[in-house]
Amino acid sequence: MNTKLLTTTKKDIAEAGEIIKNGGLVAFPTETVYGLGANALDEKAVKSIYAAKGRPSDNPLIVHIAEKEDIVPLVKEVTPAAKALIDEFFPAPLTIILEKSEIIPDATSGGLDTVAVRMPKNETARALIKASGCPIAAPSANTSGLPSPTKAQHVIDDMSGKIDAIIDGGDCDYGVESTVITLATGVPTILRPGAVTKEMLEAVLGRVEISPAVLSGMAENETAASPGMKYKHYSPKAEIILVEGKKERFEEFVNTKKNAFALCFEGDCVNIPHLTYGSESDDLSQAKELFDALRRLDETGAKKVYARAPHKNGVGMAVYNRIIRAAAFKVIDLNKPFILGLTGQTGAGKGYVGEMLTSLGYNVIDSDSVSRKLTEKGSPVLPVLQTEFGGDIVKNGELDRALLAKRAFSSRERTDALNRILHPAIIERCKAQAKGLSVIDAPQLFEAGLEKDCCRVIAVTAPKETRLKRIIARDGITKEKALLRINAQLPEEYYIKNSDAVLINDGSTDVKKAVEETLEKVL
Ligand code: TXA
Ligand code: MG
Repeated sequence: MNTKLLTTTKKDIAEAGEIIKNGGLVAFPTETVYGLGANALDEKAVKSIYAAKGRPSDNPLIVHIAEKEDIVPLVKEVTPAAKALIDEFFPAPLTIILEKSEIIPDATSGGLDTVAVRMPKNETARALIKASGCPIAAPSANTSGLPSPTKAQHVIDDMSGKIDAIIDGGDCDYGVESTVITLATGVPTILRPGAVTKEMLEAVLGRVEISPAVLSGMAENETAASPGMKYKHYSPKAEIILVEGKKERFEEFVNTKKNAFALCFEGDCVNIPHLTYGSESDDLSQAKELFDALRRLDETGAKKVYARAPHKNGVGMAVYNRIIRAAAFKVIDLNKPFILGLTGQTGAGKGYVGEMLTSLGYNVIDSDSVSRKLTEKGSPVLPVLQTEFGGDIVKNGELDRALLAKRAFSSRERTDALNRILHPAIIERCKAQAKGLSVIDAPQLFEAGLEKDCCRVIAVTAPKETRLKRIIARDGITKEKALLRINAQLPEEYYIKNSDAVLINDGSTDVKKAVEETLEKVL
């Protein structure tokens, strides 16, 4: 298909209106992002939008109108809350969800009973709706999954050859999509933040909630209030990692990185290749530049990008919502202590990996030695252990570690009892020692719930036979005893599933190289 490039002249808009009237697809500018429009009441035309974008068919579209009263035939009822928002804001970067009327085809509403309606501020958009004589269903005019288009060139890049026409109306004013608020369920709830902020909506409606999926991801088994939330979004080809933290901490962190890019704010002192998206104090400038910056990153060939996180207030919430999705929720929080968790099964060679990390300049905290100190003569923990495991585990004030191990590792239940006593105190002491770039070497990291305090977790594993040999040689115990210890631990699959990286140390591994590669991978 030959995609026609049109301008914003009356003649071109009339031509575009005809295309839509006849069931065709036209990309057009709005004040938020470019939309890919079709007649919202024409099921066949709407289906071709999904095809051109590669969009899943259960992700509903926003219906765009030219005048406030055009909403009436589209919905069952314009509720008082809806009326209040329309009077206050329309035309605006604001989308309202209400129960739909019969004229909305299932293809437009993604099979839902509700419909999303918006009256754009952009003059060209409204002129096009008028020229086509029908409400226009329009998602953002990008290939599904890619950043939304904020310039005509972005649409040309994604949609050339797939749609009838593109109207070039210059750069979009806001650069992030409209705020989506549902009025169809109980308390008005923001499903997607945009330039009309929570504060602005609350001033009209009173209490407004924010869907939990806005700032955090959705659990695998959760159903989405807004289907669009469950899909991969705004993702450039590069891997993006969102870095939270003040300017100086961010600069210090990214300037140590090799083979990486940064996405930062104007004025950040970054020595590695980088692009900026607006200035730190101006969330509107961030919104306007973010998607273009994400697209340009791919043009530079960047593979890994550390992006400085914006604040989450006002329009910042919309920017944060988009960038955390672009990062697929991968976040490094430099405001928290920087702790890497190092764990793995007994005999996997985790201690050796810890030594390598020490030689690379990390502050490695050994939870076993913290644990040993915790159970030294005179410790208040000893009487608690005696109550649980028998008075005879302490002789002359000293803990008989072998006897405690024998009893504590005799069953899962006994191991749990030991953990309940020791873990909270060990965690507290380890965290107190974490200064700068730290690693906590903890065989029982997951059992203790310590992963919650770690920015990343690395697990070390080795084949069972290798581990057995190592334990027998190291601790001088029988094969049976070694097996008992191995079996009291979490299975290998657990470590694999719950860690950010797994380092296999089977004896033939170049551990130093593997550690460096693992660090590169997780950070
Ligand atoms: O700024 C914008 O809103 C742009 C311009 C072109 O107007 N459009 C846009 O559309 O961003 P789209 O399709 O990319 O995003 C619409 C979002 C999706 O997340 C979709 O799931 C949600 O709105 N949505 C649409 N109808 C809905 C409904 N009935 N219930 C819940 N969510 C709905
Ligand atoms: Mg979109």
